Amino acid sequence: QECQNLIFSLLSEKDFTGKKPLQLPRILVLSQHTPTRDSDIILASLPKSGTTWLKALAFAVVHRNKYAPNLESHPLLSDNPHNLVRFLELDLYVKNQCPGLEELPSPRIFATHMPFQTLHESLRDSPCKVVYVCRDIKDVLVSRWHFRSKLVSNYSLEDIIDEYIKGVCFFGPFQEQVLSYWKESLVNSNPVLFMRYEEMIENPDAQVIRLADFLGCSFSEEEKQSGMVEKILELCSFGNLSNLETNKTGTSVCGVAPHAFFRKGGVGDWKNHLTDDMARKLDEMVKKKLEGSGLKFE
Ligand code: A3P
Repeated sequence: QECQNLIFSLLSEKDFTGKKPLQLPRILVLSQHTPTRDSDIILASLPKSGTTWLKALAFAVVHRNKYAPNLESHPLLSDNPHNLVRFLELDLYVKNQCPGLEELPSPRIFATHMPFQTLHESLRDSPCKVVYVCRDIKDVLVSRWHFRSKLVSNYSLEDIIDEYIKGVCFFGPFQEQVLSYWKESLVNSNPVLFMRYEEMIENPDAQVIRLADFLGCSFSEEEKQSGMVEKILELCSFGNLSNLETNKTGTSVCGVAPHAFFRKGGVGDWKNHLTDDMARKLDEMVKKKLEGSGLKFE
């Protein structure tokens, strides 16, 4: 059933350019590009959940020593997070944009939008670390609507709500995807860290420390005293990244202009777009699916 939902979603949505339907083979890609090093890190999310931010944070945290103490000349100052952390399914397979995978130093960081069930089975038994970020469905939907409206003409909020209610959304129905990673995060044998965009906004320091601890590169007391956590948060902040020349005018990433990944940021923009009725429908759909799982979106 999960597989059917996913196939349905992939075939019914359009690709990034909004021109051609996604093709079935994309479902198989992860088995061909499975991370093979125990130290590999996978960042997982649904589009519009904070992927760009998580990519920047994870990259900055893992590679901080190379650019310490002030993070001057950090690659994030001159390159988009999506170029520094590649999508397994989009960049590596479809476009083959990342040659020399073997030469990348450990730990390598990859990203995926695929549901957990579709990751290669060897990954589930490996010590590779997976970080998942989720966000309230209403903000995800509004963010995605803005993003796609630039690519697809006459795309109304009613259209996208209808798609989400039917479970037709990029990389699978929202609630299925979130649940797939949530369940894995509860199983001790699989190192999956479950993060929330809203908590990252509310308490970024605590969340970035949590991320570093999980990735096995905790901040030392000395680093904390010297303000390294704050420096990383500032480097990866919406204000900083969205104002960098490279992200304003740079060449396209994942088929879209780099600035398209930075719209407004923050929590609750859905209130400016959705009616109470629309919001209730979406909330109820998610609540029903998540019932009994222990996962809640308040
Ligand atoms: P909005 O459209 O609500 O502004 P993704 O990276 O998964 O595509 O998610 C994009 C969303 O994350 C957009 O949300 C974007 O503005 C927001 N975003 C991008 N970079 C961010 C950052 N550094 N901090 C907070 N939010 C960020």
